[in-house]
Amino acid sequence: MNSNDLMVTDVLGRGLRDLRISVTDRCNFRCRYCMPVEIFGAGYAFMPREELLTFEEIVTLVRSLIPLGIEKIRLTGGEPLLRRGLEDLVAMLAAVDGVKDIAITTNGVLLAHHAEALALAGLNRVTVSLDALDPQIFAKMNGVGAKVDRVIAGIHGAQNFGLPVKVNAVIQRGVNEGEILPLARWAKTAGVDLRYIEYMDVGETNGWKYDEVVSGAEILTILSEEFSLAPRAPAYRGEVAVHWQHQAGAGEIGVIQSVTKPFCRDCQRLRLSADGKIFTCLFATDGHDLRGILRGQLDPQLLEATVRSIWQAREDRYSEVRGQITMPKAEMSYLGG
Ligand code: GTP
Ligand code: 5AD
Ligand code: SF4
Ligand code: SF4
Repeated sequence: MNSNDLMVTDVLGRGLRDLRISVTDRCNFRCRYCMPVEIFGAGYAFMPREELLTFEEIVTLVRSLIPLGIEKIRLTGGEPLLRRGLEDLVAMLAAVDGVKDIAITTNGVLLAHHAEALALAGLNRVTVSLDALDPQIFAKMNGVGAKVDRVIAGIHGAQNFGLPVKVNAVIQRGVNEGEILPLARWAKTAGVDLRYIEYMDVGETNGWKYDEVVSGAEILTILSEEFSLAPRAPAYRGEVAVHWQHQAGAGEIGVIQSVTKPFCRDCQRLRLSADGKIFTCLFATDGHDLRGILRGQLDPQLLEATVRSIWQAREDRYSEVRGQITMPKAEMSYLGG
């Protein structure tokens, strides 16, 4: 049998290529659009340690899901660098046959410290969230007064160890649309792939309002005041960002338009929460528990069969039908960004 015969597709014909693994629900930031401090304050009950999948459990799971088609792994959170020994997990995943790409999404504050070990462990690339260069705006957005210089140092640290860096900037009206041009100017010289993200209605706590979304079209209009940009074709099927190339000099810029131009049609992403539930959509209400199987009479074939049947039944396309769905959504910091 050809290994392609084992790969799985969902109801809409979408394969399973991309696994996003949340390694912790904790974060050292309190971005308002993700973990508003009024909700995620001192009294908030994060997952107890024993609930978290161990690195061995994560790797067992990944190994058993490779036949379904998974090739790309992204480590997320919360803030993944808060999970002690993350480099060890990267090395363990890099040794799994069939894993072709390992990336991490981080807020960057701890990155300078970890970059060398992550690169040596086999990490392929890094995505850093950075919503503003202005120190006041950045401090306000991250909710804890974190300094932009530390994030920039983290980005340089990663680059120094040969890790390609993408930067994600969530743009929220009335908060940081004035940062669109400064970020673009900076990215052009910093050698990073900058992607602007439309503010999304993830979870139930951020008080999302449509009026606060700055659309990708609007972002491009602002960029065209200063830059001459030409569209470039997607790098791979299902790429979430639409990219534009600078006509003068090198570099490109992307927009992730989950609200105004949904990309569910090609969504090949499965999310794993830190406590071992899988979610077939970023906007799902609940996940399917796999920890029970991992901690019971462990049978890798049962893991594979369980995920196969969940994926085969998958119909999610939240961003295409936004407004018609009223079920409460799990938080992004919990199920992974
Ligand atoms: P690469 O192209 O492989 O680098 O990865 P990526 O762009 O999928 O990963 P990244 O984590 O950088 O995604 C960027 C942002 O796009 C995320 O932070 C989300 O805001 C958004 N995003 C990613 N995946 C999804 C998804 O499945 N659905 C929706 N609605 N938004 C997503
Ligand atoms: N809308 C858009 N993007 C978000 N992220 C977190 N919350 C939201 C939201 N409400 C992004 C972060 C980070 C990634 C993990 O998800 O900026 O880049
Ligand atoms: Fe933390 Fe990222 Fe959420 Fe900000 S967006 S609170 S950095 S997990
Ligand atoms: Fe995929 Fe759900 Fe995002 Fe659509 S809304 S792209 S189905 S995760």
